Amino acid sequence: MEPKGHRSWAEPFKIKVVEPLHMTSRAEREQLIAEAGYNTFLLRSKDVYIDLLTDSGTAAMSDYQWAGLMLGDEAYAGSRNFYHLEAAVQKYYGYRYVVPTHQGRGAEHILSKITIKTGDYVPGNMYFTTTRLHQELAGGTFEDVVIDEAHDPESPHPFKGNVDLNKLESLIKRVGPQRIPYVSVAATVNMAGGQPISMGNLKAVRALTSGYGIRVILDAARALENAYFVQQREEGYRERPVADILKEICSYTDGCTMSAKKDALVNIGGFLALNDPDLFEEARNLVVVYEGLHTYGGLAGRDMEAIARGIEESVQDDHIRARVGQVEYLGNKLIEWGVPVVVPIGGHAVYLDARRFYPHIPQDEYPAQTLTAELYVESGVRGMERGIVSAGRDAQTGEQHYPKLELVRLAIPRRVYTQAHMDVTAESVQEVYRQREGVRGLRMTYEPRYLRFFQARFERL
Ligand code: F0G
Repeated sequence: MEPKGHRSWAEPFKIKVVEPLHMTSRAEREQLIAEAGYNTFLLRSKDVYIDLLTDSGTAAMSDYQWAGLMLGDEAYAGSRNFYHLEAAVQKYYGYRYVVPTHQGRGAEHILSKITIKTGDYVPGNMYFTTTRLHQELAGGTFEDVVIDEAHDPESPHPFKGNVDLNKLESLIKRVGPQRIPYVSVAATVNMAGGQPISMGNLKAVRALTSGYGIRVILDAARALENAYFVQQREEGYRERPVADILKEICSYTDGCTMSAKKDALVNIGGFLALNDPDLFEEARNLVVVYEGLHTYGGLAGRDMEAIARGIEESVQDDHIRARVGQVEYLGNKLIEWGVPVVVPIGGHAVYLDARRFYPHIPQDEYPAQTLTAELYVESGVRGMERGIVSAGRDAQTGEQHYPKLELVRLAIPRRVYTQAHMDVTAESVQEVYRQREGVRGLRMTYEPRYLRFFQARFERL
């Protein structure tokens, strides 16, 4: 008889090249984090054991991608790798026109400049740091129109990235559709914990905005992970390949900004994709000012080849199942052990809830920043603050934003770490949780003007 029951999944690849890791002592880490101003962005990577700072640009490329690097056509104009990239985006994302950029924020910059005028509003399903800053620098004001559940780390809503259609429509009525150049829809929502938007909600956003003649622009950095959640959680999608679902997501939008450093499995690169020929002409013209000619946009030919190949690999169902499965493995372990994390577990990262770790540390004393430092000192694991430091200040008043979510993100690079690394990470987090009482917060000693979380410095209180 066949034994019934559970079958484990495993990664659909084996490892060909390895990179040694280095473990420091606790005393060394105490000194290193102090020297880094208690900011994990200011640590050297050689001093990090398991690096969960970001899933951005940290993927392991495949042999097929590495082979593609040798086929780089490093011509200034008309590189064949650009045409391969363009074809891959057209085939898998379904947009007509593609402008390569050096990474996601390059695309955000171009898009913001060609669409936003002073006094405009850009509604979005929660802010992202670089996205909002480019909207503001172009003269716009970001308006959060995500559902309330997104701001609640304990809400189990399966699609916490959904747009609140009432919030969106009341903004449209308040400021008028002509003041809204586009609705910025992220799939998945990074700052909410890697939470997806449902296909049903996206369709409704499309229907609402079409009535007013407002564009929808997708932040596609992790849209494939979103497609996987749709497949797993939404009625009618269970039997559909993620590649199909991704294309359907894109079909309800007018274009996308893309950081290929996420879903697309490369270490650098991005693009802006559009359907409107006039807007494309403007983007193609402006990209030469800031990034490079429209057939390379700040990338080497080989980089574009790696993205084209990465896209082809990323849309495979077995890849995305293992990718999100690994994140869920880590998250479920922490849930089982009673460690406070954002639920449901997101697509690219597990988010620790610093408010529930350190209820005695007020938000002004940076509980999440403190937790990233404590975790590093305990174990050499590097995470990232996603709370008050990341939220920054109001562009008009200069007041600090006080986000409801005060989180530490443990982002899992794609195809890089093993299940054993996840076990070690979970045990490290559990130990920090056990020692949570009596931990003191931080004071900020240096605050940069833009995107302060990257370079701010702190000292222990
Ligand atoms: N949009 C989202 C949702 C992102 O997460 C990022 C980057 C960007 C846009 C900008 O792309 O870095 O290529 O310029 N997120 C990184 C992270 C930094 O760690 O989450 P980029």
